[in-house]
Amino acid sequence: MCGIIGYIGGENSAGKLATGLKNLEYRGYDSAGIALIEDGVDVYKQEGTIDDLRIPSAKAQLGIGHTRWSTHGKPTDENAHPHTDCTGDVAVVHNGIIANYQDLKAELPGHVFKSNTDTEVIPHLIEEQLTTGAELLPAVKRVLSRLEGSFAIAVAHAETDGIIVARQDSPLVVGHDVDEMYVGSDVTAFIDYTKRVSYLHDGDIAHITSDGFEVFNDGERVDRPVETVDWDASSAGKAGYDHYMHKEIHEQPNALRQALSGRIDTLAGEVDLDVSLEDEVFTQCEHVQVVACGTSYHAGLCAKRLIESVTDVPVTVTIASEYEVHDGFDPDTTIAIAITQSGETADTLAAIRTAIGYGMTTMAITNTVGSTVTREVDETVHINAGPEIGVAATKTFLSQVATATLFAVFLGRKRETITASEATTILESLRSLPSAVQEILDDERQIRKLAHEYADGDSFFFIGRKAGHAVALESALKLKEISYDHAEGFAAGELKHGPLALVTPRTPVMAILTEGTAPAETLNNVKEVESRGAPVIGLSSNGTAQSFCDHVIDVPEIGLLEPFAANVALQLFAYHVAKTKGRNIDKPRNLAKSVTVD
Ligand code: F6R
Repeated sequence: MCGIIGYIGGENSAGKLATGLKNLEYRGYDSAGIALIEDGVDVYKQEGTIDDLRIPSAKAQLGIGHTRWSTHGKPTDENAHPHTDCTGDVAVVHNGIIANYQDLKAELPGHVFKSNTDTEVIPHLIEEQLTTGAELLPAVKRVLSRLEGSFAIAVAHAETDGIIVARQDSPLVVGHDVDEMYVGSDVTAFIDYTKRVSYLHDGDIAHITSDGFEVFNDGERVDRPVETVDWDASSAGKAGYDHYMHKEIHEQPNALRQALSGRIDTLAGEVDLDVSLEDEVFTQCEHVQVVACGTSYHAGLCAKRLIESVTDVPVTVTIASEYEVHDGFDPDTTIAIAITQSGETADTLAAIRTAIGYGMTTMAITNTVGSTVTREVDETVHINAGPEIGVAATKTFLSQVATATLFAVFLGRKRETITASEATTILESLRSLPSAVQEILDDERQIRKLAHEYADGDSFFFIGRKAGHAVALESALKLKEISYDHAEGFAAGELKHGPLALVTPRTPVMAILTEGTAPAETLNNVKEVESRGAPVIGLSSNGTAQSFCDHVIDVPEIGLLEPFAANVALQLFAYHVAKTKGRNIDKPRNLAKSVTVD
């Protein structure tokens, strides 16, 4: 995930920006850069690490910097931020996605663009405004009103005092010191220098000078109070959380917004995945084959449910290391999809190469721009979750599922197997997912209490049907990998065919009872385990669990996608069980983030 730092005040802005960039390294990045404003704008940027960046010992009093994690365009020197306009007087750094950048670019004939980024359109639009005689602040305001998507930006200009910053669905924080001011995508950026911060809100635009800042929202001047954070520099990389995994669980509402940004037209019931494959690939497709491993395999199981519910295309999901191609299908009408957050998993690469060998159309759903899988498949859809540092996948799982939902609707609309209004219903549920996830996160105290109560169970069962089954498998994997406890996910109806023999009062059972998981049938299985003395935690959206379970976790009512909101509660449950046991949560034993061996 990209990081922003800005500084204004003393003469050592280059040094302060360099420290800020180092502090932002934890977010993950592939290139970095700074712009210093002294006699004009001087930009230093390149692909690679911050240590590779040649930061001069200039005496500039103002500068902005950026760590980039690629979304639009590969990690190259040209694509690194800051980006400038044609005059070289405007410099911009940006986090997030400008969804309509191509339309905006088309309105700028005569402007020379040097990168493939969405960001670069911003300085050029500002330049256009400045040539009409506008001051920098109103110029930026006008440009912001044209941008669609989620973003945080910082703008500096050769001849204008101060930094202009703005946020929309992407965090931005202002730091205060004596005669010095900072801006950062989080407090980490400037924690070495000040702990006094103001948090900007969505829609805020602020003008920061060395002695203070003015904030506007919706044309009105607004007050953003100064607060003091109590972290020390060493915990700052985790934004105050004890573990990256915990931080990443909490980042999910934002990650989901990024996955959806610019891709859905809810009213029209349409999805734009910006794919270049011919329409016939989708309209003539007779079979989808998904290959993936671990958590991504579970996202694949969710994808199968979603695609089959809105199209007439059968989907097979295979654990990548088990993938074989059998006779009796037509490669010309088969799409093979690799789901892989890293894009580097050896088993998944081997499987997709097999599909390529058979002549299928291949796609990847991945989080990593420029990864191996993206170079080998015909088409890639990025999930845009930002880097995930905790070994246990959390936000990438949910973003994969959201992206798979988009693909399902996209395919259904292309094949006309769902109407626009049916698509609208699904897209509305998808749009509600970030706030539903936020509600679950706000309920963390209850989930932590349950985790503490049951942490010493002998074994943990997760049960569900349909999408609830995929969520049960994923939740069990999360718990086992970080707590080292035995946990298993079951199709709820399967318990009576064997696993029920294991159920005792010391095997807590989590039952997924939300919309889209056949809760009435699963309740019969809840009764089976309860009669063997197992405590049951039910996750439901409309009170289904109330009278039948020992504990209830409420899931907001958002329709089809409720099981995936429930998954977040179970991520928190796993996290708190593991934390109670003092496990090495971000680096569980025997596991690696990217498994590049087969
Ligand atoms: C579990 C986990 C793994 C990965 C698996 C595939 O939390 O992260 O099970 O999902 O190793 O990795 P990717 O998605 O990178 O192909």
